[in-house]
Amino acid sequence: MQTLNVDLGDRSYPIHIGGGLISDLSLIAPHIRGRQVMIVSNTTVAPLYLEQLKTTLADQYQVAEVILPDGEAYKTLDSVNLIFDALLENRFNRTCTLIALGGGVIGDMTGFAAASYQRGVNFIQIPTTLLSQVDSSVGGKTGVNHPLGKNMIGAFWQPQLVLADTDTLQTLPERELAAGIAEVIKYGLIRDPEFFSWLENTIEPLKTKDTAALSEAIYRSCQNKADVVAQDELEGGVRATLNLGHTFGHAIETEQGYGQWLHGEAVATGMLMAADLSQREGWLTSEDCSRIKKLLEAFDLPVIPPADMSADTFIGHMLVDKKVLDGNLRLVLMESLGQAVVTDRFAEANLQQTLIAGKKLGDF
Ligand code: NAD
Ligand code: GLY
Repeated sequence: MQTLNVDLGDRSYPIHIGGGLISDLSLIAPHIRGRQVMIVSNTTVAPLYLEQLKTTLADQYQVAEVILPDGEAYKTLDSVNLIFDALLENRFNRTCTLIALGGGVIGDMTGFAAASYQRGVNFIQIPTTLLSQVDSSVGGKTGVNHPLGKNMIGAFWQPQLVLADTDTLQTLPERELAAGIAEVIKYGLIRDPEFFSWLENTIEPLKTKDTAALSEAIYRSCQNKADVVAQDELEGGVRATLNLGHTFGHAIETEQGYGQWLHGEAVATGMLMAADLSQREGWLTSEDCSRIKKLLEAFDLPVIPPADMSADTFIGHMLVDKKVLDGNLRLVLMESLGQAVVTDRFAEANLQQTLIAGKKLGDF
């Protein structure tokens, strides 16, 4: 097992990464405050891992569960309300602990429920997708989607513990694994060029779920994320670089209907769109762009924006982005491979070129 710390003063917490962790009570117990534990999972993950977690906790705690429908389309206030119903029906009090057992959708909703139930209760993340192990379980962003915008309703609420049990990845479908890899590649692009090169040289082991390769990818990703979050917990500055590709990607997710493109897939195409614009601005070389495209394609990630999305449609969604300031669109672009910046310094004409519908990005 490897352990990292998210350094946030008296709200600091560990991230444990390794196999078999769900069965290790000694890792979980120190982070449970009272006796009441509510496990939140979904109809796909619960049959796989709920009993294992309940067995770990059953002797020591009053354990209840709420099983939500699976999918990005259910990342809604209605689903969060089902968590509140279960907490109230079981008379859970302020010293209860919520445990998210699932991917980023379950983690984001459980965190939001924890942030608001009785004005805030204890919460633990047990992420079971690659994406949630490398990104969403760390850093305290919680919330739900709105029909008009992705992740528009939410709160910052840090967990007490992140337990990334790498064994759970063995049941993850290939498409979901690739979606997680998109966020892994993101760290290379925004701040860790050596990691980007390591990924270029580790494609096959990652695709075949080699445990050592996956553990290293999770560790390096969490190290990068924890470092950024410790510098800028509430996204006043550098944390926004973690959203590379997301402004384009969220537009795709919202326009296509939540769940049609996986979040990581939309981010993959969005990152190449950011690369394309960065090249037009004279920051990235065509060689950099072609390396990015090649790596995304090696993991079977999509690199072409939807054919039915015009520049105007993109812009309409992009103006709802949380980085917009006083109506002014700001984007995460790359000054060089491995160095991201949040900026409004780009030519409108270049952005329009990047947004041309269904365009094969990268005449690099
Ligand atoms: P997800 O939660 O929908 O999980 C993907 C699919 O895999 C689901 O069908 C799920 O049931 C299934 N699954 C989960 N674990 C499994 C396992 N071990 N074996 C088999 N199937 C399993 O999607 P995700 O990619 O984990 O997360 C995406 C969400 O995370 C998006 O809503 C995105 O906005 C959010 N996100 C949040 C942050 C943050 O900082 N809070 C960061 C990145 C992404
Ligand atoms: N996923 C972006 C962030 O946590 O800030």
